Amino acid sequence: MTKRTKIVTVLAAFTIALAVITVIVGGPRLEAYRASQVGGPFTLTAHTGQIVTDRDFRGQYMLIYFGFTFCPDICPATLLSMSNALESLGAEADPIQPIFITIDPERDTADLMASYVSYFHPRLLGLTGTAEQIASVARAYHVYYKKVDSHSSGNYLMDHTSIIYLMGPDGTYLSHYSDRTPPEDLARDLRRFLKSSTF
Ligand code: NI
Repeated sequence: MTKRTKIVTVLAAFTIALAVITVIVGGPRLEAYRASQVGGPFTLTAHTGQIVTDRDFRGQYMLIYFGFTFCPDICPATLLSMSNALESLGAEADPIQPIFITIDPERDTADLMASYVSYFHPRLLGLTGTAEQIASVARAYHVYYKKVDSHSSGNYLMDHTSIIYLMGPDGTYLSHYSDRTPPEDLARDLRRFLKSSTF
């Protein structure tokens, strides 16, 4: 063995060992963490005025985004992207329920949510609730939000986590996506989950 080959061999062995350790130790632990830590029970009010809970969506995938209707840019852009992804899947997307949960329940009443969701996918469901109900569901999904005073007039913006969550038909966490995920990438990944589904 030349010195160079020796170094390459040692490096390769080290890399393989590291990969094996990562898979054995990290993989299952990470999966278990994700499955147990993201999501959970909620009781909220739909934009139709109806009270809904997480159990109402069993058997369906939930594609969830948290935001607020007064958001000037990121929220509408993300909801549009989600809508386009589902639109491109056509009937294939039927098992997926798109959901928009407000983190600004003070202003986002059911009525306001109703007019807002009408700009997006026809099946997009807007959910609001009491401050406590919203705090509880946000905690379950590890969503951070905070009121940011921007004007002396009393108008404000909300600082918030901007992640799209995919939950499975049994209510457990499957995946999450950045708000910048292109609709075609989101659609491709959703199709992958739908195809592998046993439902
Ligand atoms: Ni926003």
